[in-house]
Amino acid sequence: MKESEERYSILLECASDGIVSLNSRGKIIEFNRKAEEIFQYTKDEVLGRNLSIIVPKYYFPTHRKGITDIIESKKSRIGKTMEVVGLRRDGTQFPHEISVSTFRVGDEVIFTAIIRDISERKKAEEKIKRQNEELILLNSIAQIIGQSINLEEILNSTLGFVMDTSKANVGAIFLPNHSKLTLAAYKSKFEKNPKKKRGDEIKLGDNSIGYAAQKGKIVISNNTRDRRQKIPTIISHFSKLKYFICLPLKSKEKVVGVLFIGDSHEIRFTGKDENLLNSIGNSIAVSIENAILFEEIKAANLEIAQEREKLEHLTMKLIVSQEDERRKISRELHDEAGQLISTLKINLEMMGKKLPGNLTTISNLVKKSTELVDQSSYEIKRLCTNLHPSLLDSLGLQAALSSYIEEFQESYGVKTEFNYGGIKKRFPIEIERVIYRAVQESLNNIAKHARASRLSVSLLDTPISIIVTVEDNGVGFDVKRTLSSHEVNRGLGILGIKERMCLVNGHITIKSKKGNGTVIRLEIPKKV
Ligand SMILES: Nc1ncnc2c1ncn2[C@@H]1O[C@H](COP(=O)(O)OP(=O)(O)OP(=O)(O)O)[C@@H](O)[C@H]1O
Ligand SMILES: [Mg+2]
Repeated sequence: MKESEERYSILLECASDGIVSLNSRGKIIEFNRKAEEIFQYTKDEVLGRNLSIIVPKYYFPTHRKGITDIIESKKSRIGKTMEVVGLRRDGTQFPHEISVSTFRVGDEVIFTAIIRDISERKKAEEKIKRQNEELILLNSIAQIIGQSINLEEILNSTLGFVMDTSKANVGAIFLPNHSKLTLAAYKSKFEKNPKKKRGDEIKLGDNSIGYAAQKGKIVISNNTRDRRQKIPTIISHFSKLKYFICLPLKSKEKVVGVLFIGDSHEIRFTGKDENLLNSIGNSIAVSIENAILFEEIKAANLEIAQEREKLEHLTMKLIVSQEDERRKISRELHDEAGQLISTLKINLEMMGKKLPGNLTTISNLVKKSTELVDQSSYEIKRLCTNLHPSLLDSLGLQAALSSYIEEFQESYGVKTEFNYGGIKKRFPIEIERVIYRAVQESLNNIAKHARASRLSVSLLDTPISIIVTVEDNGVGFDVKRTLSSHEVNRGLGILGIKERMCLVNGHITIKSKKGNGTVIRLEIPKKV
């Protein structure tokens, strides 16, 4: 008997789990070495003491009920493993697994619990759970941020999300602006319309928010005192806040903002979450930087577009005044020089008639001069038409082009063809002028450069656009090289066509191959 008792006692002492036995009155009657280690009591200190010494108060009723149930059922039993909470000598509570077995000696019931401290396992489980939650949180933030490139949207949606996740009452995001921080987003559960505060400023270094921005460090405070100095008054109802966090939003070590969250109770985040908070701060910061960059590009593009619009407006004015000037010169030439030449011709003819028949040399000279005057008159007319095709104003594009192309054939001996179709009514005068000048320049180019024997012009009116083509069978040219040339004396004709086309939202394409002729195509959309 003694021998088996000794063996039992050795077994008890060497066990790697804590073993505690109780009698039916709940008094401790066995407490092994591992139990001493777990509960921080020596065996002598606990023997004969009530179980309550190693169990937190709120567990008393459960234990008492367990003991009575077993005593009343009058059965021995080997219990299942369960998770309970124990109480150490220093007052700390810890989770452990117990497995209780009972056996009866007469009326006495002995309870033996095998105890395994699972604090470490619980901690590890807790850590994994937390890491998972952190990943989910970061992923959600990344998703929210990724949905927009609009700065205001990013600020508002991330602020809302962080506040919901942390269960904060108040939240704000400040963005640096020289030596100040401007309130860029603000939400408060204490206020109905908290947005009114946007644009408010605080100085860098002032209060906790300014400090977080200046030092790039998180400020976590659960100190209800000194609140007045720590929180700027921009955060209304700050006196209700018991807890707040100022998180610098850092991208590549540069603070691009500060996130503030505060609550009248404790926020989910604590000092232990510093890494997580920094990660949240980084992802918000990167998206803020991107959004700012995008806004800058947008602003720059807008500026460029405005400049371009101004330039287009100026070009338009220039072209209009050029046309006016041409019209004026053309009229003056026609009215003044034209009249003078006509008078000169009449005079010469009269002179010729009055000359005596024997003055043949002079009479021939007068005849020649009359011919020269005729030629000058023709040249002046041609110049007038070139400067300002009066037909364009009076009869429209079709008639003006037709006459111009015909004259071109006469002047340059190039066989011409003019086709048109679909035209039911006149185009707006500015479009007619643009097309007329473009055809004029294209034909001039053919005369100057193409050495062509044939050319054809077509004018097509479709429901969506006006299409003009000028085609020749001349020597052709390297379009890409010619048009990208930066030579000082490069021609301006095609450039002029392009500019005029821009004014009517038109488009020009040139197809040409050396030795294979040239096709110029203009397309001008119709305003719907
Ligand atoms: N139909 C064509 N056939 C062959 N070459 C052409 C033709 N049209 C244009 N080119 C070539 O393209 C160049 C550019 O034409 P553009 O009208 O811009 O200038 P330009 O005629 O030389 O000078 P400007 O028009 O200012 O008097 C011409 O110098 C010529 O080499
Ligand atoms: Mg030219």
